[in-house]
Amino acid sequence: MVLQSHYIDRLEGTLIVPGDKSISHRAAILGGLAQGTTQVSNFLCSEDCLNTLKAMEQLGAKVDVLESRDGYGPTKFNISGVSMHPTAPTKPIDCGNSGTGMRLMAGMLAACPFDSEMFGDESLCSRPMGRIMEPLAAMGAKIDAKGAKAGCAPLYIHGGSIHPIDYILPMASAQVKSAVLLAGMFAQGTTSVTQPAITRDHTERLFKHFQIPCQVNGLKVSIDGPVLPLARNLAIPADISSAAFWLVAAATRPGSVLTLPLVGLNDTRCAVIQALQRMGADISIETTSGEDEGEPYGTITVRGSAQLHGTELLVEEIPNLIDEIPILAVAGALAQGEMVIRNAKELRVKETDRIDTTARNLRLMGAEVEEFEDGMIVCGGAQLKGAELQSYGDHRIAMSFLVAGMSAEGTTTLHNTACINTSYPGFSQDLAQMLR
Ligand code: S3P
Repeated sequence: MVLQSHYIDRLEGTLIVPGDKSISHRAAILGGLAQGTTQVSNFLCSEDCLNTLKAMEQLGAKVDVLESRDGYGPTKFNISGVSMHPTAPTKPIDCGNSGTGMRLMAGMLAACPFDSEMFGDESLCSRPMGRIMEPLAAMGAKIDAKGAKAGCAPLYIHGGSIHPIDYILPMASAQVKSAVLLAGMFAQGTTSVTQPAITRDHTERLFKHFQIPCQVNGLKVSIDGPVLPLARNLAIPADISSAAFWLVAAATRPGSVLTLPLVGLNDTRCAVIQALQRMGADISIETTSGEDEGEPYGTITVRGSAQLHGTELLVEEIPNLIDEIPILAVAGALAQGEMVIRNAKELRVKETDRIDTTARNLRLMGAEVEEFEDGMIVCGGAQLKGAELQSYGDHRIAMSFLVAGMSAEGTTTLHNTACINTSYPGFSQDLAQMLR
């Protein structure tokens, strides 16, 4: 599928972006494991999250759809959980494009008393799974990675009894942290994970939501197993990673006023807002969630600025804006001065090598980029030119460069954009609304 964008002078109006991807995966998994029925609303009906929901059905959870988005899938449903006793799947579990789905569910499946198999698309089958296999093996799991590339999916999991560990996480990854904690839900005793830096804490928050005792002490997270999550209805906020495309589109255009309601404002996800504010973006936030709601959310209003300037992303910010780096690099190209992105080697093992794919597309649009093993420096200020670009099958690359095209001379054409459905169903309609 091909999508195009072109120059516009400003953006106005209100956009409600879809539900949070990270929270949707976890809602399906924990709702599916819980005792009782959880009503989930504003679920992200993207291919990634729907695969996780289908996997939970394969494991015995029952899903009754209450509302759907035409052509995509359910956004509101009741999920009746298996009370921590999943049933053996009768066929391999398809995780599609999703590292989160595969890594989190591997943690759960490692602890289940049956064999299972997980596979994914070409991109997922080239991403490193050793990072979850190592701690899960230390917990007693037997997992074989049978992919063409060493340490990659398909994964064969010989599940069974798991014992707790005290794990020092070698990389700042919420997926690995969550895989270990999900396995820890089944283990007898305290499972702990110590992170090298704060990573997104949706698993910990959802544990609390489902009344699972979980302690957070600085960088260390612990769970006392075995646990029984108790069903409790859950409304998922809009995804700040999806909102980020529009934040950049509006912030870089004087005269723009864009309102984004109900966006998740979890501290461990808001670094993109801070980075844009340091660049001179006019962004205001009104928190509208109640005191006791597990995930804070609110309305973000962004007003276009005459000229943004580059910034250096802080080392401690990197894990909390990792998914927004492609669009922040685009913001850097539209700003004055240099945008410095370092300490972000993890970008090389995302849906694509995002240092390479971001730099490549920026250069094709006329920006100067210096590439490093762990990041890039984007030289801002050059007038971007419309170009024929590839998404390389990466949803965030596709959306970032359609937004870049809104500031470029001429037309920008993005090839292979079906991947956008892995995180933002309806993006092309929202883009069309903004380009009108
Ligand atoms: C995610 C964690 C991050 C992020 C991904 C979603 C999650 O990955 O890039 O899109 O939901 O836990 P890592 O854990 O690999 O950093």
